[in-house]
Amino acid sequence: MATSGSMAAEARGYAKVAKELEDSGELEQARALYLKAAKLYNEASKTATETTDRNTQRDLAEHLLLRAQSIRHTEVPPSKKEGRKGNGDESSLSKEDLFLKQVPDVGFADIGGLENVKEEIRKSIIYPFTHKELYKLYGQKAGEGILLYGPPGCGKTMMAKAAAKECGADFISVKTSSIVSKWVGASEKNIKQVFDTARDSERAIIFFDEIDSIAVRRSESEEYAKRVVNELLAQMDGVDTSHDNLLVLAATNEPWAIDPALRRPGRFSKLVFIPEPDLEARIAIFGIQLKKRPIADDVNVKELARITGSYSGADIAAICKEAADIPLGEALRGGEVRKIKMQDFLQAIKQRKPSILSWYISAKDQIMHTGETAAFEDILDKVED
Ligand SMILES: Nc1ncnc2c1ncn2[C@@H]1O[C@H](COP(=O)(O)OP(=O)(O)OP(=O)(O)O)[C@@H](O)[C@H]1O
Ligand SMILES: [Mg+2]
Repeated sequence: MATSGSMAAEARGYAKVAKELEDSGELEQARALYLKAAKLYNEASKTATETTDRNTQRDLAEHLLLRAQSIRHTEVPPSKKEGRKGNGDESSLSKEDLFLKQVPDVGFADIGGLENVKEEIRKSIIYPFTHKELYKLYGQKAGEGILLYGPPGCGKTMMAKAAAKECGADFISVKTSSIVSKWVGASEKNIKQVFDTARDSERAIIFFDEIDSIAVRRSESEEYAKRVVNELLAQMDGVDTSHDNLLVLAATNEPWAIDPALRRPGRFSKLVFIPEPDLEARIAIFGIQLKKRPIADDVNVKELARITGSYSGADIAAICKEAADIPLGEALRGGEVRKIKMQDFLQAIKQRKPSILSWYISAKDQIMHTGETAAFEDILDKVED
């Protein structure tokens, strides 16, 4: 796992290159790198052990974020840049820049555990699509947006894709970072374009991944960001569930940072917590990961699952990859080609710290800060444990 120090060093590197790019007029790239550096400093500050480091890193993150924002404000309109063809519509991006429309390749069977979440998704996403008439008959309004939240690497993005696959919907994955534009009206147009495309599909799920990057509390955000939230609200209010074969999903690690108006009925009214995998789920995830690799007889999946409490699904996937790297490396160096042994897994586990503990600690801090303790009880309960 990256340490606070190594993340800060990486951030420093990005910031330096960003500055060079800015100086040479490559504003778009400079802005992206400033944001990357800010994000890394922010991450670094969360795990820094020294208070002074933590504060410095936080300050740097803020400074770089402001820098990125100021670039946005001095940006040259795209049509005035050389090489770009104006279509009379200077501010809006092409569809490819905004979202990816695909048929997902991940289904429920690929997701270990999370049975109650799958059931929740069936009830609120799949059945309203597949049993439309029944829902209508009983006057059940379907299709409110769902916000998946929880620690990193525990299957939010996977779950959203699988939801689309399970009901045969197009999966429209929005590139949240490209949606926001400082041009008056452009962000709104971008969002409208996403919803319009979804309405053209026979059946579609729009997915805003890492929605916290665009839907922060309006009181804390800049004018153009506020317009994004307003347009999202308007579009979501305009989804006619009896006619539109359209559902909206979003995911975030920081649900408390989302504008509360977006969490009201009719919008992302359902918040679904995707926690770290429990014992059963870890057994299932190891099973999924081991299926594709040659495994020695001494490998005890139950034992591996038992000793990986607090590890995320992504951690487990990484452990399996790292365990496989051991015999692979030996074979590449001319050793015998052998199966992956229990010892390889134990070594990989020893070298990898669980990634979700720090998320819970910072989540608790931030929830207390916003005062929304009742809304996020499930998280607080876990930190108490
Ligand atoms: N429940 C699970 N079952 C199987 N694999 C899982 C599970 N959870 C996580 N993984 C593995 O971890 C990877 C990351 O999962 P995913 O991208 O869905 O996490 P996430 O919750 O969206 O994380 P982030 O908050 O960082 O975006 C997956 O590609 C998969 O290999
Ligand atoms: Mg994700």
